[in-house]
Amino acid sequence: MDINITEPKSDLDCVLLRNIRIRVFVIEQQIPWQWEFDDYDKIARHILVKDQDKIIGTGRLFPYLGNNNDYKLGRIAVLKEYRGNGIGTKILKHLELIAKDKKVNQITLEAQSDKLNFYLKENYIIEGDKYLMDGIYHNLMSKKL
Ligand SMILES: CC(C)(COP(=O)(O)OP(=O)(O)OC[C@H]1O[C@@H](n2cnc3c(N)ncnc32)[C@H](O)[C@@H]1OP(=O)(O)O)[C@@H](O)C(=O)NCCC(=O)NCCS
Repeated sequence: MDINITEPKSDLDCVLLRNIRIRVFVIEQQIPWQWEFDDYDKIARHILVKDQDKIIGTGRLFPYLGNNNDYKLGRIAVLKEYRGNGIGTKILKHLELIAKDKKVNQITLEAQSDKLNFYLKENYIIEGDKYLMDGIYHNLMSKKL
């Protein structure tokens, strides 16, 4: 594998990025596409992970409205056949670097409750009880930068 992380630079990149989210969240996890794509997409920084020229993962970071200088990350997705190789963690760390660059104090995220370990390993903490969102249990998590 020859992994590199960039940001979408063309309309085609944006289409391919959405394609990853359709494959992972809409088809694999059965989340309705109307819920998957939201207004935060317009203000978010999106990242693209490529293996050579093939797009294999994505994630986004955006200002968390209401919380002063906090940012929220999410929509981290890696194609099934590429999982378990540290790519998800690379996405997480890259989004944290973008946040640090913006002098962000804290990152917040809504983790699917069966994925908590993925974030706990990177020192996120669980904030409160699980709740249902988009038909899937989630927990709020945060990390001070
Ligand atoms: C979650 C996801 C992004 C992880 O990507 P990945 O590239 O496989 O993750 P990594 O290889 O960096 O995993 C790092 C660690 O996180 C943990 N982890 C990874 N996937 C996990 C999962 N599905 N559930 C719980 N813990 C997980 C493991 O402890 C792993 O360490 P290990 O390989 O030494 O056991 C990927 O499984 C995915 O795209 N899932 C579908 C979309 C999704 O659910 N996104 C997150 C929503 S909260």
